[in-house]
Amino acid sequence: MRRTRPRLIGALATALLATGVGAGPPAQANSAPAATTSAQTAPAPAKKQPTLAELARRQGRYFGSATDNPELTDTAYTALLGREFDMITPGNGMKWYATEPRQGVFDWTNGDEIVGLARAHHQRVRAHTLVWHSQLPDWLTGRDWTPDELRAVLKKHILAEVGHYRGKVYSWDVVNEAFNEDGSYRDTLWYRTLGPGYIADALRWAHQADPRAKLYLNDYNIDGVGAKSDAYYRLAKDLLARGVPLDGIGLQAHLALQYGYPATLEDNLRRFSGLGLDTALTEVDVRMQLPADAAKLATQAQWYRELTAACLAVRRCVGVTVWDYTDKYSWIPAVFPGEGAALPWDEQLRPKPAYAAIRQALGGGQPLS
Ligand code: XIL
Repeated sequence: MRRTRPRLIGALATALLATGVGAGPPAQANSAPAATTSAQTAPAPAKKQPTLAELARRQGRYFGSATDNPELTDTAYTALLGREFDMITPGNGMKWYATEPRQGVFDWTNGDEIVGLARAHHQRVRAHTLVWHSQLPDWLTGRDWTPDELRAVLKKHILAEVGHYRGKVYSWDVVNEAFNEDGSYRDTLWYRTLGPGYIADALRWAHQADPRAKLYLNDYNIDGVGAKSDAYYRLAKDLLARGVPLDGIGLQAHLALQYGYPATLEDNLRRFSGLGLDTALTEVDVRMQLPADAAKLATQAQWYRELTAACLAVRRCVGVTVWDYTDKYSWIPAVFPGEGAALPWDEQLRPKPAYAAIRQALGGGQPLS
């Protein structure tokens, strides 16, 4: 993955803000009804529509969104982010390039901003991510390391970052994207220099720094049963047998209409539960070739409904996180040219059919027309 930065749409974004947020119920008038003589004659208060977080909570799950620091100046955006979700993932703010831009010099500014915002909204944080091959600082990728040197660098980074957020985050994506599509280890700086043992080491150091955080391995294209998710299954089993602190497997679920729905998603979640692990859908989006049309949006809604239902059907699937909630701030157009419209809210922050479908899957009633 290239080290692209999120695109901001500047003037266009500002213009779009004028259209409001759309998803919530109409604001309630605060004035008391005039000349009320008894409770019976007072108009019944309009029912407030429960949020995705509230609906998920009734099912013992969370419903989350990723977010990114540049977006936080958009007040219509942050209002909806603060209202509708109960779990937040920093899209970039806790990655290595952001947190240790120079060796041994740590910068928690972006991560702290997101953790602070989440706390203000009584939301938990899925922290992301400690060990990855992408978005690394140049000082780390620009030279060779001996195994001992690199192990020390990795240990120091994990102890510093997990230690900084100790007690403040629900979980960590400790290792991200460790496998190739065929289930072999991805040839990364970590694997090349340290061998496969870097994964167990990273989990142990993270556990040492925050014993209560749930520790995950996270990847894409492991949503259904296949060679790559089989590799995670084998690895997880092996780590657990050796007493390595692993709590969960994160299925990113970056889906695309043109590749079909992963029909074995629920079975896949269930087999990891069978190992005694939590699972989560951690970075959900459902992209399509642009332009979007009603048929594509309807299929997309159906996929969101199904993946939400799959999580609810498996006891240890703890929740669903979308990789940001609005097409206005989706990473897709910058990375997959010609594709987009992947999230449940459109670029004007208006709910799409997918939003109603998620509500429905969470038990929140019929889809809104
Ligand atoms: C993406 C961010 O959303 C973008 O802003 C950034 O430019 C690239 O990374 N898998 C992951 C995430 O685990 O960290 C990636 O996030 C998306 C793919």
